[in-house]
Amino acid sequence: MKDKPWSGRFNQDTDVVVEAFTESVSFDSRLYREDIQGSIAHAHMLCAAGILTAAEAEAITEGLVGIGEEIENGSFSFDPALEDVHMNIEVELTRRIGEAGRKLHTARSRNDQVATDFKLYVREELCRTEESLRRLMTSLIEKAREHVDTIIPGMTHLQHAQPVSLAHHLLAYVEMFLRDHSRIVDTKKRLNTSPLGSAALAGTPHPIDREMTAAELGFDGPSRNSMDAVSDRDFALEAVFDAATIMMHLSRMAEEIILWNSSPFSFVELSDAYCTGSSIMPQKKNPDVAELVRGKVGSVYGNLVALLTMMKGLPLAYNRDMQEDKIPVMETLDTVRQCLEVMAGLIAGLRVNQEAVRESLNRGFITATDVADFLVDKGVSFREAHRITGELISSLIGQGRTLGELTLDEFRSYAKEFDEGIFTVIRPENSVDRRTSFGGTARKNVRQELNHAQERLAGLENTD
Ligand code: ARG
Repeated sequence: MKDKPWSGRFNQDTDVVVEAFTESVSFDSRLYREDIQGSIAHAHMLCAAGILTAAEAEAITEGLVGIGEEIENGSFSFDPALEDVHMNIEVELTRRIGEAGRKLHTARSRNDQVATDFKLYVREELCRTEESLRRLMTSLIEKAREHVDTIIPGMTHLQHAQPVSLAHHLLAYVEMFLRDHSRIVDTKKRLNTSPLGSAALAGTPHPIDREMTAAELGFDGPSRNSMDAVSDRDFALEAVFDAATIMMHLSRMAEEIILWNSSPFSFVELSDAYCTGSSIMPQKKNPDVAELVRGKVGSVYGNLVALLTMMKGLPLAYNRDMQEDKIPVMETLDTVRQCLEVMAGLIAGLRVNQEAVRESLNRGFITATDVADFLVDKGVSFREAHRITGELISSLIGQGRTLGELTLDEFRSYAKEFDEGIFTVIRPENSVDRRTSFGGTARKNVRQELNHAQERLAGLENTD
């Protein structure tokens, strides 16, 4: 019979098909750092509690550090027959240091062990995601600084609506990513209790010190209910939800870049380093990076639903179903970080085609609201002003002309309140600069907001 840490009550080897079906080491080996860190903290505590001698604790620690180094440099080989990362490391430790290794699992179960390892892993990955978010926001703010004076058509329903500063548009994304960042900070706060010492589900009779392991592992304290601690995966779900929201924001941005880069728009040019070509059409330079970001959202949403469904209806406490949490979480956190990183680079290399942007402002009667507002300033009711402007535009559409081509007499044929001032009002930059309401796109506002965004970003870096 093969020797497994749990094989005592078994009289038959595990079927090979079952071994392959139940193993998780092929993916949870990524938790080796956290597993070793958790085990070292546990050994320190067992020693302080008098359960291990100082020599045993030291042998365990040294053995684990050695195993960690071998895993790191690729010379360690994981055995799927030993199921998961936890048993692989424990068995190897015992092989190396003997009996002391067999004492490490005192007052602990794989149930609290895996919950602890996974929390440490998710916490670290979330910190890295925060960093990537900050890099993307830095990129967006820098690009926004270059483009306060670039006026683009703001859209609703993907139609010309009102002119806005491109910086204002980019800062809208900074707001989204700042919210994403704060969501991660919140997730980390709720995550930060230590399951270690909850054992299988009911706690342990051994005189352990859960405060001590919690402190060594950087948790705020031990979890308060052993059954909840071993069966809670809210932290994983929240992390994936946070990632899904980031992906949603990224894909909106990706979509706009694809659109702006499209032949009919030609608002932007992407750097060659961030595009790929076509194998048949030599003229092509495709925005594949943005398209892939948009495309990868699907698997992240899928992972969120997979996790929610996996947890649904699970009776307390641990059930093996929960082993299925690893791949969706790991895959999601890898994907979101990769997407954040490439988008930061894509934004940095973005060049604006000023001519195309300016040209597009002539279309779509983008300052029609300003024409109506002009009449309002002259005492006309907004509804009446809206009607007059609507009629004026309708006739321009019929004639194939733009607002800028109207003479004063023509304006006045629609309303006597029009005067020379109307020509200033319909200039896009004036339209932008009049929108000085708090949060509006006036360039004066946008300059202030740029500094404010920069300060908020710097504030985040200091809290991490
Ligand atoms: N590999 C398992 C997981 O990831 C570890 C916990 C196993 N516990 C158990 N009672 N079989 O969930």
